[in-house]
Amino acid sequence: MTITHPPEIDDSPETRHDATPGSDDEMDRGARQGNSVPEDEVAAIFDEIAPVYDRVNTLMTLGLDGRWRRSAVRATGLASGESAIDVACGTGKLAAELAERVGPFGRVVAVDISPRMIERARSAYGDLVQLGFELGNALALPVGTGKFDAATIAFGLRNLSDFEAGFRELARVVRPGGRVVCLELSMPRPMLWGRIYHATFRRLAPALGTLFRQGAAYRYLPESLEGFPDADRLAESMRRSGLVGVSYRRLSLGAVALHVGTVPQTVRTASPAG
Ligand SMILES: C[S@@+](CC[C@H](N)C(=O)[O-])C[C@H]1O[C@@H](n2cnc3c(N)ncnc32)[C@H](O)[C@@H]1O
Repeated sequence: MTITHPPEIDDSPETRHDATPGSDDEMDRGARQGNSVPEDEVAAIFDEIAPVYDRVNTLMTLGLDGRWRRSAVRATGLASGESAIDVACGTGKLAAELAERVGPFGRVVAVDISPRMIERARSAYGDLVQLGFELGNALALPVGTGKFDAATIAFGLRNLSDFEAGFRELARVVRPGGRVVCLELSMPRPMLWGRIYHATFRRLAPALGTLFRQGAAYRYLPESLEGFPDADRLAESMRRSGLVGVSYRRLSLGAVALHVGTVPQTVRTASPAG
């Protein structure tokens, strides 16, 4: 298999990996294949969180979330006038940055399952003519096949009931040669720092939630990270969804992983017997 490297990847001192295929045995050991919390409950949790989401997020990420989003936008490789879909858009910050990148002659569609998140995104960025908002499920996107030059999902994948199906759906809506970009929390390395980080996140998220009177909802966030596949496994899941040239970079000492894959030029179908 040829590994391709997406251009315009950051040059910050964060590590970068080409994904190599792992065995199915390795894939299955320990990692969850999807979120077990039902979709309507997930939507209700994010409806509740929506009013405080941006403030808590900035505190929880020590303001690094802006930098992570900018890396994701660059990784799409989008040019002026092109199109993108941002899935699980939340309050719309990444979608708005994509909209700025493609400019007024481009097009960005932002999709989320939580009506209150969509409301907030629309009221914050409704003035961007090239940006539209849709209520919808990441696993059954309300858009046609091959319609976009790139698709992004930021901190949304771990909420889906089937991670690989999430990648398949992102790949479906992107044209051949276009990119799928996934930004997600990850297990930092080395392991000691990873453990400290996870222990802190487990305590900090509910504590901040309590501070903002959203304790119950914010307990869900660290829970959703338990058993989430590590960066290698996630890359393998992207590859199995049909994406090619998959690679990833760890950002901020590995607190976050940025995965990029490309939709193949030709659809690969299983060859007839033999
Ligand atoms: C942690 S927030 C991330 C929001 C935003 N992308 C960001 O980077 O700040 C996760 C978002 O995923 C959305 N979400 C969860 N499950 C979803 C699904 N099945 N389909 C679409 N959106 C979903 C939630 O409503 C929420 O807005």
